[in-house]
Amino acid sequence: MINLIKASKDLDCRKKETIRVDVIFNSNHVFAIAPNGTSRGKKEVIDYSTKGIDYSVNLLNKIGKEIIDKNIKIEKFEDIKDVEEIIRKYDNTKDYRIIGGNAVYALEAALIKAYAKINNMEVWDFVKEKINIPTPIGNCIGGGKHVGYADFQEFLIIPKTKKFFEAFFIMRHTYEKAKEELEKRKKFKGINIENALIANLSNEEILDFLVEIKDKIKEMFNSTINIGIDVAASSFYVDRVYEYKNPIKRLTTSKQLKFIEELIDKYKLFYVEDPFYEEDFESFKELNKKSCLIVGDDLTATNPEIIEKAARMGCINGVIIKPNQVGSLLVMKKAIDVAKKYKITPIISHRSGETEDDFIADLAVGFGVPYIKAGIVGKEREIKLKRIVNIEKTLQKLL
Ligand code: PGA
Ligand code: ZN
Repeated sequence: MINLIKASKDLDCRKKETIRVDVIFNSNHVFAIAPNGTSRGKKEVIDYSTKGIDYSVNLLNKIGKEIIDKNIKIEKFEDIKDVEEIIRKYDNTKDYRIIGGNAVYALEAALIKAYAKINNMEVWDFVKEKINIPTPIGNCIGGGKHVGYADFQEFLIIPKTKKFFEAFFIMRHTYEKAKEELEKRKKFKGINIENALIANLSNEEILDFLVEIKDKIKEMFNSTINIGIDVAASSFYVDRVYEYKNPIKRLTTSKQLKFIEELIDKYKLFYVEDPFYEEDFESFKELNKKSCLIVGDDLTATNPEIIEKAARMGCINGVIIKPNQVGSLLVMKKAIDVAKKYKITPIISHRSGETEDDFIADLAVGFGVPYIKAGIVGKEREIKLKRIVNIEKTLQKLL
């Protein structure tokens, strides 16, 4: 039924090379393009072959041919195991160092899309377990290493409304209002690779500013938003201290814990991602006594065993799921299942180096994941958000 599985190189939003897989079948065609991370966690699988991206592409084409020759069929999501069996013949390493996790992800995503279409189904319907329209989490103001103003990597907004379309609307208007106000105050410094706003403000000044914007949005639309942060603390953890640049301060682990606790209280933070170095499970555990979503990203790297460890220790109550942190869609699904088993909230997420692929939107809906973190503005971000708007409209028609 499948005529061709073709891997090639494409570009992500940072103009960096990534892997694309096209699948041609019955005069139809689908593709998937892997995203790339900028602040990749130490526990992620390797993104491309240690021999280079071209090696990954060639190997994928070889595997693609074998999938067609062996007439592998995917009738349901779990059947992707037959594809993984073939991949494992070529790369049996734990971290996919021979083929690359991004290659595995692009191949599996493209095949799921193809078989959904062959079966005349939407992707979310084809993979479905328990349908749920997620709530979006959007990166409104960006900081961190690459931006150079605030130390925290992301200042997030989370609309409280239940309908996705309304949440999308509120998120967009909050972003535009924040941009307008920053410009008025001469604090606007452009946008980053995720199209988040860059502000010439410190961490706390940004949080004060977002509280102000939140009040304005409440007045304008009678709608509430929650505020969150992705600290990405590993990126400024140097020689066992957290090295802040704006303002300059060096915090020991216990001081970092106190600082984050104070921020949660002062700003009523709803969501805190990676507040500590990616190996510091103990501090996560302490912070997790707070009533706030305490989320692992670099800490857990979508790895089911690490999520299980963090869950058993009581370190987190939320976890980022980025499929290409593990490559395999089956492992990613297991990560979601482990999270659900321990009542940890899974949050499916984009990467900073995104592409115009909307696959994660369907995964979020089909696997009943309560939140999706996919940015706010820009074609790579909007394609995912608008996909969920469309699914929501389809479901409303069906119900
Ligand atoms: P990324 O990080 O650059 O690795 O995609 C984004 C995040 O930390 O959530
Ligand atoms: Zn993160």
